[in-house]
Amino acid sequence: MSDAIRVLGVSGSLRKGSFNSAILRAAIELVPAGMTLETAEIRDIPLYDEDVRAEGLPPSVQRLRDQIKAADALLFATPEYNYSVSGVLKNAIDWASRPPSQPFAGKPFAVMGASSGMSGTMRAQYHLRQMAVFLDMHPVNKPECFVREAAKKIENGKLTDEATRKVIGDLLVALASWTRRLRSGSGS
Ligand SMILES: Cc1cc2nc3c(=O)[nH]c(=O)nc-3n(C[C@H](O)[C@H](O)[C@H](O)COP(=O)(O)O)c2cc1C
Repeated sequence: MSDAIRVLGVSGSLRKGSFNSAILRAAIELVPAGMTLETAEIRDIPLYDEDVRAEGLPPSVQRLRDQIKAADALLFATPEYNYSVSGVLKNAIDWASRPPSQPFAGKPFAVMGASSGMSGTMRAQYHLRQMAVFLDMHPVNKPECFVREAAKKIENGKLTDEATRKVIGDLLVALASWTRRLRSGSGS
């Protein structure tokens, strides 16, 4: 593992004008020194089907698993659909999480999310954190990043709200520091 921290970002929305993909792009602009952030493509991942898995992982799933394995940490940008994460994000996580050697285990991660409403995806984020328990991942607890009323903060696909940009920057710094702590073996 090199000294730089390699983060894999995953947006749980496929739509072109996605607020969540927009905050992930903002995160790329805001990465602190010593961190890189690349994004995963989950558009081509089929619906989970155990029969398909039995015949071999689809290339889109294998690629995602390889990207997760190669990353030092993950950053999720999740929409909130019916008080939970989007189906496409859950589906991608389900595929990538299958044995052998599920790639999420031991990974530090941070989560953020944007929605048009007032909750800013908090319920979805707590569902994601719950999944992370089973996946044996290590969450950054704070800062929490709930981007409420996203349409007022994102213009033409760009996050323009300075307060939100500051929280995302702080979240990335916290992710870097948490990843280094886990690397050095001192989780406390
Ligand atoms: C199926 C569906 C369910 C939704 N449920 C919620 C919800 O529970 N809470 C919420 O705040 N917004 C909800 N929304 C609104 C989304 O937050 C909004 O569409 C948001 O823009 C989606 O993220 P995106 O911009 O990254 O695509 C829902 C939207 C859809 C399509």
